[in-house]
Amino acid sequence: MARAQSPAAGTTIQTDGQPDGARAARGPATPRLHRLADRIETLSALDPVGDRLAAAVRATVRPGRLKGLMSGSWLGHPVHPVLTDMALSAWVSAALLDVWGGEETAPAADRLVAAGIAAAVPTALTGMTDWGDTVGGARRVGLVHAAANSAALTLYSASYGMRRAGRRRAGLALGFGGAGAVLAGAFLGGHIAYSRGVGVNQTAFEEALTEWTPVLDESELPDGQPVRARTPDGVELLVLRRGTEVFALSNRCTHRGGALHEGEVDGDVVTCPLHGSRFCLRDGAVVRGPASAPEPAYETRVREGRVEVRLLEIHRERAA
Ligand code: FES
Repeated sequence: MARAQSPAAGTTIQTDGQPDGARAARGPATPRLHRLADRIETLSALDPVGDRLAAAVRATVRPGRLKGLMSGSWLGHPVHPVLTDMALSAWVSAALLDVWGGEETAPAADRLVAAGIAAAVPTALTGMTDWGDTVGGARRVGLVHAAANSAALTLYSASYGMRRAGRRRAGLALGFGGAGAVLAGAFLGGHIAYSRGVGVNQTAFEEALTEWTPVLDESELPDGQPVRARTPDGVELLVLRRGTEVFALSNRCTHRGGALHEGEVDGDVVTCPLHGSRFCLRDGAVVRGPASAPEPAYETRVREGRVEVRLLEIHRERAA
């Protein structure tokens, strides 16, 4: 924000006319909507409902093919945001036609409302699966996000019914209500992803170890048992020795940051202890979701009794 000096008192004044002191007393200048989402994060009254629902979702969609399909293991990132774009764009386009179109565009607007309803169903299902693995503030905001989107779906379904019944005015009013609800839901969805990092590859900001880096003594590696190691710069790794082979992956699960060294190892695969994603120890590939991003994987060597690691070439290319 631009600033100006008050000639009388020499006090720094914001150009909106408020002295720094008044703004400081109100707390940091966080946008109001963001503060509202932050407030929802603290609403522990939502927990009894949220925790029960999340447990029911996890019990219904267990780690396996269906969960991987719905979470985006086949796509390389979560499916839910792709589907939200489809529902949202159809409904927003319908609203624009309702406002600016005429009689001749009414059938197109109605079809867009129907398309949004059709897209909303898989969108809700994939969102619910992702939400089932959240905790704390993200779970609370996610619950309100789901409520807003459910309200939007109900309003648009009623709107479509009214349009089909020839009650256009009522159909438009319900549609505008749906647009308001879906935009509120979209804001909260954005908050979950961009402020809480849900759905983001949890290793995205990890330092890329493109040069050989010592991580621990070979003598610290028991055979067949995963060990947590740390580079001098603080990157955590899972290191596993099996016979003469040494494997190394980032220790932070790409899904929600579970500690992989606490997971079970079966052959060339490690299972995350939090939500059951499985990764190949050799190249970090996702063997089973809900994780959608592969785990950074390292080649290893032993020099003077120290185990050294370097990102596999395929991961170095990604990091470049
Ligand atoms: S943190 Fe969810 S599967 Fe690892």
